[in-house]
Amino acid sequence: MNYTFSETHLMIRDTARQFAQDELAPGVIERDEKEMFPYDAVKKMGELGFMGMMVAEEYGGAGLDTISYVLALEEIGKVDASACVIMSVNNSLVCWGLEAHGTEEQKQKYLVDLAAGRKLGAFALSEPEAGSDATNQRTTATRDGDSYIINGTKNFITNGANADYVLVMAATDRSKGPRGVSAFIIEKGTPGYSVAKKERKMGIRSSDTVSLAFQDCRIPATNRVGEEGTGIKFALKTLDGGRIGIATQALAIAEASLEASIRYSKERKAFEKPIADLQAIQFKLADMSTNIEAARGLILNAATLKDQNQPFGPMAAMAKLFASKIAVECALEAMQIHGGYGYMREYHVERYLRDAKITEIYEGTSEIQRIVISRALLH
Ligand code: CAA
Repeated sequence: MNYTFSETHLMIRDTARQFAQDELAPGVIERDEKEMFPYDAVKKMGELGFMGMMVAEEYGGAGLDTISYVLALEEIGKVDASACVIMSVNNSLVCWGLEAHGTEEQKQKYLVDLAAGRKLGAFALSEPEAGSDATNQRTTATRDGDSYIINGTKNFITNGANADYVLVMAATDRSKGPRGVSAFIIEKGTPGYSVAKKERKMGIRSSDTVSLAFQDCRIPATNRVGEEGTGIKFALKTLDGGRIGIATQALAIAEASLEASIRYSKERKAFEKPIADLQAIQFKLADMSTNIEAARGLILNAATLKDQNQPFGPMAAMAKLFASKIAVECALEAMQIHGGYGYMREYHVERYLRDAKITEIYEGTSEIQRIVISRALLH
């Protein structure tokens, strides 16, 4: 498939590529090893318009389409999958949801700074006992006059330690099940809101993942996003868009794995010739490249449907399901091609493998993607 990108698309891709080389590549191994959040790079990503790419300019965003977002995210992710997920969560899960469902006051107060990258956002749906079964929300939001009082714990929250604002799903009426859940935006520093635990992870180690605790956390009722009872629909719809972002992160890791493998197999000699001359290596590269192009097709298809305001959830699920699978496969093959060197940290490919695995888990496991896809088929 030959994609016809506009001049703007190509310019955004080039800008992101240059940025990734200049600002993300230096220190990427050290940040991973030491679990260092890329503060300076995230600030510059905001200045470049990468943190609110699809948000209208009047709300601080870049006013671009989803294809532009995918192209930029891909370039960032090829170099640093941690920076990629930080960007993806802010764009897809926070800004997109808030722009679509927030009030004008919420947009002015929160979205403008989030989209411009002056503030960072997080999305808090998962709980210790609500992961794939996201509708099983235990966190409560109890109405008290002009306030809600939030109590509960959120789990595995990307950006959670550094977020200025977090979108939180909580039950306003537990007797109504999924239809009794509502969405709220909560500011860092609100009394009763704290970061409870920083997770130590296998991959994407320079992005932060934490649990958040809410204990009698009082917020203004005006911070509810959407009507009472619409929080689950809001979260699942927002995740449809998020899955395009994670699929792109997976594609990027797969591409990085292939590029490293091509470079290495041309340089590395065995049996007195470059290993690229061996068919065993050539076939691995061919399979990796074929899968990458298939994943790219699914992602661009989902992004195009979204840009055309057509239903895109099942296509986004297919893109994430396939791209995450091939990301793990490509990273494994890259390690095999690199042999013992691939197992060593300085060669990057062991990081690609560690980073790839999470793409099969977060924003809906591969099993959840299959549920979404099969439900659409049988609907
Ligand atoms: N858009 C809008 N509404 C939707 C929807 C969508 N894509 N999918 C479902 N809904 C609606 C349903 O219509 C239903 O509403 P009604 O009862 O009014 O009809 C309601 O939401 C509940 O849906 P279901 O009855 O289908 O609920 P279910 O319990 O069967 O679960 C599920 C559906 C697909 C399994 C869903 O729970 C799911 O996607 N789970 C995975 C959650 C997930 O992806 N978590 C990721 C956490 S966030 C994260 O990882 C971010 C990060 O930090 C990187």
